Amino acid sequence: RYEKLWLMIGVGTLVAFFLLLVYSQYAMGFMPADGHATIDSTKVDQTPPFNQPGVFKKSDKEYEVVLVALAFGFTPNVIEVPVGSTVHFKVTSKDVVHGFEIPMTRVNAMVLPGHVTETSYTFKKPGEYLILCNEYCGVGHHMMMGKLRVT
Ligand code: CUA
Repeated sequence: RYEKLWLMIGVGTLVAFFLLLVYSQYAMGFMPADGHATIDSTKVDQTPPFNQPGVFKKSDKEYEVVLVALAFGFTPNVIEVPVGSTVHFKVTSKDVVHGFEIPMTRVNAMVLPGHVTETSYTFKKPGEYLILCNEYCGVGHHMMMGKLRVT
């Protein structure tokens, strides 16, 4: 009865594909599938733009901030931009999963090793904002923070 055999092969193939799908989802973990650029987390220091973290003026009231997260801090640690600036953040991690949150704004993202997290925000209110890690990343997690001054 070949039909039975073919049916079994068919079902077996389906099951195999399904397991593969489940496994790949599992292996990907919580990584967002939204086309984030990838980066070799062991070569962050040699990979532009992360070989030069900092604040870069792009045009009037538009800045790019390149940040590197590493237990337990952000580089650069203090960011200053004029009030009304739109800041485009590019963040990656050199080690484990970190968070990137600026309370009082809608900036709240995960920073994964091997990925570039991109988010933008326009700072309309002057003041000193905190940059926090909101993903548990080790014993120094609660100390992992930076500052963003809007002047
Ligand atoms: Cu980095 Cu928590």
